[in-house]
Amino acid sequence: MKKILKWTGAILGLLLLLTIGTAFFLRNTAQNRLAKKYEVLPKSISIPTDSASIEAGQEWAAVLCSGCHGENLAGTEFFNSPDLGTINAPNLTPGGAGKPYTDLDWDRAIRHGVARDNRPLLIMPSKDFQYMSDEHIGQIISYLKTLPAVEQSWGPPKTTFLCDVLFQVGAFGDALNAETIDHAKPAHYAPTREANVQYGDYLVKISGCRTCHGAQLNGGKDPNPEAPMGPNLLQEAACPVGAKMVL
Ligand code: HEC
Ligand code: HEC
Repeated sequence: MKKILKWTGAILGLLLLLTIGTAFFLRNTAQNRLAKKYEVLPKSISIPTDSASIEAGQEWAAVLCSGCHGENLAGTEFFNSPDLGTINAPNLTPGGAGKPYTDLDWDRAIRHGVARDNRPLLIMPSKDFQYMSDEHIGQIISYLKTLPAVEQSWGPPKTTFLCDVLFQVGAFGDALNAETIDHAKPAHYAPTREANVQYGDYLVKISGCRTCHGAQLNGGKDPNPEAPMGPNLLQEAACPVGAKMVL
């Protein structure tokens, strides 16, 4: 009897060690992915300075950036949980993270998901923005360069041990877009702006509708475990999130 207990204890102890070992391994792998440096040099594009382009950039930013970076683009606390950590969407104005950004830095962050210091950006949806045309990203950058400074600073992402383990097993989906983007791909082209299928498809792509509504837009879910279901769009309906721009 005693022998059986001894063996059971030993096996349980071994399993516990194995679990802890695996958790540490997953955490360390996640930390390495977050700390990896990406050397990406986008080809230089010309950034317009005329007021029509700046206005167009403002419209894009209102639809594509403000949801996370705030209405004035001065940043928001995107995510905060005692169990998982804090992820801020930083201040893009010259009073914050945007201050040292050059035209190339903006392009690298937006279409490649890589920060100025070459680390991959968490959550930032560059897997969608990568499809943006040179003309449209140029408009956005032209607008970002006119932002008035708002003095506000937000800390870098802080993730807990548990968050790192969950991230490593894929619980948050593709949260580091720099890993999956083909950084050498030539720039994408946008169809002429018209109320047709081609332009609609472009808007759906760069707006990330499929992240929540599924690959076929027939229903899906944002990888965030707390996100509600994105309904099937292959039927007539009105969207509270982002469809205003498309319809
Ligand atoms: C789904 C939310 C989300 C959207 C939409 C979004 N961002 Fe971000 N963005 C983030 C988060 C979160 C970070 C911080 C990531 C990090 O530090 O790892 C970030 C980081 C950035 C950075 C890097 C700043 C730095 O600290 O170096 C830039 C630049 C940026 N975003 C620009 C934009 C622009 C421009 C748009 C619109 C075209 C946009 N973002 C849309 C969430 C978002
Ligand atoms: C961050 C996730 C998210 C993104 C991105 C998103 N949606 Fe949605 N959408 C939702 C959710 C969740 C609902 C359901 C809201 C509700 O029921 O209150 C919804 C509802 C809708 C509806 C109403 C559907 C119905 O049956 O009532 C339409 C239409 C829609 N979205 C279109 C779009 C389009 C087009 C885009 C891209 C431009 C888009 N959505 C991007 C999450 C998202």
